Amino acid sequence: MKIAILRERRPHEARVAATPETVKRFVAYGASVAVESGAGLAAAFRDEDYAAAGAQVAPTPAAALEGAEIVLKVQRPLLSGEGEDELALIPTGALLIGLLDPHRERDSLDAYARRPLTAFSMELLPRISRAQTMDVLSSQANLAGYKAVLDATAEFPRAVPLMMTAAGRINAARVFVMGAGVAGLQAIATARRLGAIVSATDVRPAAREQVMSLGASFVMVESEETKAAETSGGYAKEMSADYQRRQAELVAAHIKTQDIVITTALIPGRAAPRLVTEEMVKSMRPGSVIVDLVVEYGGNCALSVAGEVKRVGGVAIVGHRNVPGRVPTDASALYARNLLNFVEVLLAKDKKSLAIDWSDEIIKGTCLTRDGAIVHPSFPAGGKK
Ligand code: NAI
Repeated sequence: MKIAILRERRPHEARVAATPETVKRFVAYGASVAVESGAGLAAAFRDEDYAAAGAQVAPTPAAALEGAEIVLKVQRPLLSGEGEDELALIPTGALLIGLLDPHRERDSLDAYARRPLTAFSMELLPRISRAQTMDVLSSQANLAGYKAVLDATAEFPRAVPLMMTAAGRINAARVFVMGAGVAGLQAIATARRLGAIVSATDVRPAAREQVMSLGASFVMVESEETKAAETSGGYAKEMSADYQRRQAELVAAHIKTQDIVITTALIPGRAAPRLVTEEMVKSMRPGSVIVDLVVEYGGNCALSVAGEVKRVGGVAIVGHRNVPGRVPTDASALYARNLLNFVEVLLAKDKKSLAIDWSDEIIKGTCLTRDGAIVHPSFPAGGKK
């Protein structure tokens, strides 16, 4: 069994899909592992560290991929017309495992099926307890939530904690976290550690207890609707226009007293809900900072721009791309362990060869293409793009 790991070539990507630690485990199972030279460099993993873990360091993507049965990626492979055509180099029939972004990149699914590859999209992993160690969305969102707070403080012209000094008192900063899922909860914890006064909001009532247990206050519009705001998978649903209006009134009143706002709200498969309007931004004091963690999914803030730090009336609006990739060593370490745990599900008991149980919930939930066809129920063949 050969496993290949490529250097990620998409812009703003510093992560890598395997670390020397996970390579060592694969090698211990008897796999041969090829790592493209320089694959881990941006995440601070050197070729010699991979070699010491038992990998062959391959000079080119073609050499790494030759004869590979499993290809581990962070982002989806480049297609023809996108530079080096990585997809064309992947051996037919190989398993491709990564963050394939199938909702936004529907056309790539056809390309995987045509190749044909057996493609698994880690974002689609069912949120069941057996899959927790493979949950890439959680591992990456956790680091994104942490980094969002540091990114905010980097733009913030004040200190965060309360300080009593001989020259007088500095007040603690007020941080408001919108969306209290994995990223939001970590943002709350990080802001609290820095000494901020933290508040948070969500549409799922279950978030209240989690927010409060981290020492933050919870603000939320409660209604009959919020009782059913959470799907069985733990995600939020899109709220009605009436609810959105009431939520906007609450947010408008709260946000003007805040120094830092971190937005993390998402609804799977849809554009991010618009929670911070231009008027709300303009109501904030100069020096305030908004970090829109979901700017690449449409943004929670009306004024955020992906890849930019904008200033509107003295308020900085931070729209960094790929925030987990801004903590690349730890993001890679966690992602690589998620993939290792996932690959273990695909292996026979002795871990020496592939033995895929196609009826397994984890496999069915993540497998996009197989035997030349798109097989995932969320992406019916010929379906909407
Ligand atoms: P997400 O990234 O899809 O969304 C982030 C947060 O935004 C969520 O808390 C969501 O409720 C909130 N949100 C959506 N629309 C909103 C709106 N209009 N206003 C305010 N907030 C809004 O969610 P994430 O972080 O992936 O987690 C969702 C839930 O799943 C959490 O309860 C988490 O604890 C749970 N979870 C369960 C796992 C398991 O059982 N294995 C693993 C990971 C998370």
